[in-house]
Amino acid sequence: SGVFTYDPGFMATASCRSAITYIDGDKGILLYRGYPIEQLAVQCDFLEVAYLILNGELPTRKQKDEFVSIIKSHTMVHDQLTRFYNGFRRDAHPMAVLVGVVGALSAFYHDAMDISDQYHRDISAHRLIAKLPTITAMAYKYNVGQPFMYPRNDLEYTANFMHMMFATPCERYEPNPVLVRALDRILILHADHEQNASTSTVRLAGSSGANPFACIAAGIACLWGPAHGGANEAVLNMLEEIGDVSRIGEYIKRAKSKDDPFRLMGFGHRVYKNYDPRAKLMRETCHEVLNELGLHDHKLFKLAMALEKIALEDEYFVERKLYPNVDFYSGIVQSALGIPTRLFTAIFAMARTVGWIAQWNEMISDPDQKIGRPRQLYTGTTQRDVVPIDRRG
Ligand code: CMC
Repeated sequence: SGVFTYDPGFMATASCRSAITYIDGDKGILLYRGYPIEQLAVQCDFLEVAYLILNGELPTRKQKDEFVSIIKSHTMVHDQLTRFYNGFRRDAHPMAVLVGVVGALSAFYHDAMDISDQYHRDISAHRLIAKLPTITAMAYKYNVGQPFMYPRNDLEYTANFMHMMFATPCERYEPNPVLVRALDRILILHADHEQNASTSTVRLAGSSGANPFACIAAGIACLWGPAHGGANEAVLNMLEEIGDVSRIGEYIKRAKSKDDPFRLMGFGHRVYKNYDPRAKLMRETCHEVLNELGLHDHKLFKLAMALEKIALEDEYFVERKLYPNVDFYSGIVQSALGIPTRLFTAIFAMARTVGWIAQWNEMISDPDQKIGRPRQLYTGTTQRDVVPIDRRG
């Protein structure tokens, strides 16, 4: 009819039906397939949660063992894929590298185009979940000029990722269970968050029947934006800018000022207005990690904890319910683990790949599925005739 609802940012439009993730921002509830995030984060590991998100049910012991062994069988990347890295500058941002290399996977798996076949959909999901840690760790190694480390399949998923990050050919990486668990928890908390911008991007790209690896690359491109996946990176950059506990007052004053656009990064949330259940879990982990590594007295972390305390007590922040969010704590944890700030969003992408591919799969299997084709309210000129070039002006 030409009359469409104008809804910028899709604030009032449900783009799909989904049975994967439920969020109640006012009550601080986040469920994956009906299970509270608080229970999953404490009782399950990342691959169990990945199985749940993909298949709808938690695995039995036998199903889990099978799933783990399938994922392990896909952790290597084709040797040809390693050549893509050499085409980048050493200082290339890991997210730029990920967009390129994950997109390139589509050229290695043309069979994934056969999306009507559940076998191909499953194997694409398994390949993505298995290879993202390898590809992410390779982006890091390329940045720092160290040789790529092969995956170690005797290690669990997250410990293997840490091995590929931190081991070198002359130094073995001995996983510390407290630290592995901390990173595993970050992955669980970031695995899905219903129809956010990057997930909607994956669904829209996939709605044309595009190769799933290319769709995930589109999701990574979207996640890279500072308004989406870049917040934990912004937290660390802000802490470094503040630099010292003595300067916190100055920054708090700026954050409160109406004339200063500065905001405290890692505080507040668009959806979780009372509290963010992920932040509560991450806070626990943050203190565990700082204790384990004896880092409470380290300048940066002392600063972070002082900032947290002020924000939790200061009237301005309390009144507006500006609690530290999940990114505040996950940024600190990753930094304490020795992960460089510019890799944070890539690790977010690694975790969210599970949600993206599950949502893609759900869309492809939906009998109502149509190519995504938003309409517009046209604001240009009405029809007119072309004037010959010499008579224009
Ligand atoms: N520092 C100082 N003041 C703030 C902050 C902050 N971080 N966040 C909000 N405010 C103030 C804001 O100025 C406003 O004050 P007033 O009512 O006096 O005008 C009030 O709080 C409400 O803010 P809002 O902009 O209406 O809230 P919003 O829901 O639109 O914004 C937010 C939410 C997350 C964009 C915002 O809190 C923010 O910019 N936070 C810092 C960036 C950040 O940490 N982002 C990551 C969020 S978690 C992402 C994820 O889930 O992955």
